[in-house]
Amino acid sequence: MEYQHIMEAAQYILSIVKTNATIGLVLGSGLGSLTTKLTEATSIPFASIPHFTTPSVQGHRGELVIGKLNNVDVIALSGRYHFYEGYPLDQVVLPIRVLKLLGVQTLILSNACGAINETFRPGQLMLIRDHLNMVGINPLIGKNIDSLGPRFPDASEIYSKKLRQLAKDIAFFQEISVKEGVYAWWSGPSYETPAEIKMLRILGADAVGMSTVPESLTASHMGMDVLGISCLTNMASGILDQKLSHEEVIKVASSVKETFQKYIEEIVKQL
Ligand code: HPA
Repeated sequence: MEYQHIMEAAQYILSIVKTNATIGLVLGSGLGSLTTKLTEATSIPFASIPHFTTPSVQGHRGELVIGKLNNVDVIALSGRYHFYEGYPLDQVVLPIRVLKLLGVQTLILSNACGAINETFRPGQLMLIRDHLNMVGINPLIGKNIDSLGPRFPDASEIYSKKLRQLAKDIAFFQEISVKEGVYAWWSGPSYETPAEIKMLRILGADAVGMSTVPESLTASHMGMDVLGISCLTNMASGILDQKLSHEEVIKVASSVKETFQKYIEEIVKQL
């Protein structure tokens, strides 16, 4: 993606509404309703933004909403692009780069994922401590945009330790069970086989999903502070004697949306 394209998208958004937001939120499957909590909100459909397209997945609305969450300026992306939809990774991460140009410095990425760690339970949240890139491609491949970040960015702390600590403290005060672990990025769109889940567990993964890693790599490249929050919607393939479905994923993610919203609201307040 050319820098010019990122600029054009950002300029279009700024031509509709100005913002002082430094906090960005990416709302995953079934979690997009947080945007209804925003006040003084301006909603911009992805499809209207230059170089964006409409995401095709059910449970993902595809809009950028600029507004205030309890008086704190935020920019929320309700919906995201996934690699499994067939988009090249620079399309997948375009919204993240646009957020940077709009002034975002702290990025909260959320997703729905499957629990590999057998001490975890569906409906719990997990802070991402680190990730495994099991897709083996990287959104930063290609000509580096030097004005965004370095050619060879460090990846030793993609998910900010400080933000994780803040999120853990808030979970304690809100008395919600929030786990911490390693998220493995799987391309999808098929869910994993039981053998693949066994492999991922041996490699150190606690959870598995089809998003987030391209975005966190891109955000980290640009020097953003990233917090990753996963909603564990199901035990991963082969752990229980049941089949996985997107309907179940959406159902469980939606069932925790109140807890999730309260949690994000408090995190944003304390940033
Ligand atoms: N695997 C991959 N992605 C997912 C899962 C899963 O079990 N649950 C929700 N997203």
